[in-house]
Amino acid sequence: MDGLGELRARYLEAVAGAADEAALEAVRLAALGRKGEISLRMRELGGMDPAARQVAGPALNALKDELEAALKARRAALADAALEERLAAEWLDVTLPARRRPAGTVHPVSQVMEEVTAIFADMGFAVAEGPQIESDWHNFDALNIPPEHPARQEHDTFFMARLPGDDRPPHVLRTHTSPVQIRAMAEHGAPIRVIAPGRVYRMDMDQTHTPMFHQVEGLAIDRDISMAHLKWVLEEFCRAYFEVDHVELRFRASHFPFTEPSAEVDLRCSWEGGQLKVGEGESWMEILGSGMVHPKVLSAAGVDPAEWQGFAFGMGIDRIAMLKYGIPDLRAFFESDLRWLRHYGFAALDMPTLSGGLSR
Ligand code: PHE
Repeated sequence: MDGLGELRARYLEAVAGAADEAALEAVRLAALGRKGEISLRMRELGGMDPAARQVAGPALNALKDELEAALKARRAALADAALEERLAAEWLDVTLPARRRPAGTVHPVSQVMEEVTAIFADMGFAVAEGPQIESDWHNFDALNIPPEHPARQEHDTFFMARLPGDDRPPHVLRTHTSPVQIRAMAEHGAPIRVIAPGRVYRMDMDQTHTPMFHQVEGLAIDRDISMAHLKWVLEEFCRAYFEVDHVELRFRASHFPFTEPSAEVDLRCSWEGGQLKVGEGESWMEILGSGMVHPKVLSAAGVDPAEWQGFAFGMGIDRIAMLKYGIPDLRAFFESDLRWLRHYGFAALDMPTLSGGLSR
């Protein structure tokens, strides 16, 4: 058979030159595929006279075997090379020290919310929540603050935009957590004992005010709740929160549309050497507003004021966080400065509990 030498040389060269799997497969098909050059030659054997076939048959078979072996060897070499390349690219020095992730901490506000929740939970208060975008009715009307009431101006309210043509009162960013009183009573009725920690908003910004801050609302409604219960609950709270044995509270007559009577509550303290001491000294520090829930508020929430009464209070969380942990500037709370957080923040696993200790 003619040209076998040329065929052999050409295909062995093609195999050696194939740069990848696909090129190699193309060479195999061209030579040994169903219509491959060598396959065609083998088919021609049938038409030869026996003497010629005696010579050509074994020669072709030998060539086919040789080529298959060459393909196999080349395929293995290519796979090795690919592996080598990947190993070289993906090596990892496992003896290097692990890279440290930037470590965040629990924000003091979150920590204090957990502390407050733990203390009130121990006194039988559940946690209630409400939306930060609140209806005008929940934030004001239901709390006995009608549209023309001056308290509406005092609250420096952020109003949500309305669609053109909508003349209903716009929703507001809630200016206090008191609307949660309405929602909780409307949902669960009386008796009820809840606290509602959360974000509130007022258009105000200076060293001691930020447009967003945090409050915790307290509400206890039953058949015979009085101011005496309010006083005990707040004293108990302050003792646990400030982690002191003795506290003294002063109730100052005040006015809120949603409580009657109303009182602002001051805590006896001293500021010796810039260091706050709770329970002693000659200073008083205002910590919250409170009072007996107004009958109109109970009615608005669907609770019969002839049958039920109780107290409510609202306390600034940021402020009591600053007091307890000696944090001087409120605005730093919301600047997301990691250095500040590392200094004032808490380890994620330090969950405050009354048994384990609140702040440690
Ligand atoms: N909502 C009042 C405020 O934001 C606080 C308060 C709550 C007063 C409940 C009395 C009763 O200032």
